[in-house]
Amino acid sequence: MSDWTDGYVSDIEYTAGFYKELAPSYLNLCALIHGYVPPDRSDFNYLELGCGRGLSSLILAAANPKGNFYAVDFNPAHIHEAKRLVREAELDNIRFIEASFEEVAEGRLDLPECQYIVLHGIYTWVSEANRKHLRHIVRNYLASGGLVYNSYKTQKSIRELRQELNVSSRQVIELAMVMIHAGWMHPVLTDNDPEPSRRLNRVLAEQSVYSNQSGFLAAPLIGSAKVASLTDFLILAAVRDGYTDQQSKEISRQVWQGLSARNLKLKTNEQTLDKPRDNIAHLQKETLPVWRDKTLPLWKALGLFGG
Ligand SMILES: C[S@@+](CC[C@H](N)C(=O)[O-])C[C@H]1O[C@@H](n2cnc3c(N)ncnc32)[C@H](O)[C@@H]1O
Repeated sequence: MSDWTDGYVSDIEYTAGFYKELAPSYLNLCALIHGYVPPDRSDFNYLELGCGRGLSSLILAAANPKGNFYAVDFNPAHIHEAKRLVREAELDNIRFIEASFEEVAEGRLDLPECQYIVLHGIYTWVSEANRKHLRHIVRNYLASGGLVYNSYKTQKSIRELRQELNVSSRQVIELAMVMIHAGWMHPVLTDNDPEPSRRLNRVLAEQSVYSNQSGFLAAPLIGSAKVASLTDFLILAAVRDGYTDQQSKEISRQVWQGLSARNLKLKTNEQTLDKPRDNIAHLQKETLPVWRDKTLPLWKALGLFGG
């Protein structure tokens, strides 16, 4: 292990995940629910500290083209991979920066004041010295009225916390409804340009054929992500390869190839389908029609893909 890691395990790349709590739309909703005026999402700077492989910031940048995104991590492999996706998806509102928290805290990078500073899976994983750097960064770079999201491990379970707070999910939804009706909250961002999301989604769909990296697609209408299963991705890749509705057997074969290459099999009513032909038949009769009639129209309505 080399010096730059500061004692942090760096020889294994971190998994790529998307965390909806990091979305500006979600953070604004939380601020509103607690009675705070949230930042204006029509022009903002956003900083993610310890972005890992960068999927959250990538998707959020694509789905929020009016924001400027900065994502920092000291792991060169993480930043290299994230930069490749930025280039392939031609995103122009995100910068991935290979730097340590110490370097950011010392002001060695050219960063603006940020309306959002987020860190997920970091604070309880790093040394006290680094926690100090993180607090310093927040003090120096958070714009007035900005929001910070810091996830960290606690000894209490979510259920215990919810009981203590005495807030039911229903109350939260009711509150959100009131805010939507009062015009304080926009549930969808209809003036968001969907093109950056569509470019990123095409890149994610292409790479799904050979990697399991992403389970998410950028959703510009909500400024966040939509979960997509591996089967969704494999069908999408087959359709992108030029297969049409009429070729459902060929699409099913392609999808099955992708699943079996990963040692996966389909399940129906808790029963695993062992034979390839049963998997292909199930894909053709059950999975594809649902995908065509429900999933794809929803994705199109959310702006994930055009046409
Ligand atoms: C547990 S991972 C979390 C990654 C991402 N935020 C997520 O939740 O998927 C912690 C990340 O912080 C980065 N990291 C740890 N210490 C750091 C430091 N001192 N400076 C910069 N990045 C650091 C690691 O390289 C790693 O990518």
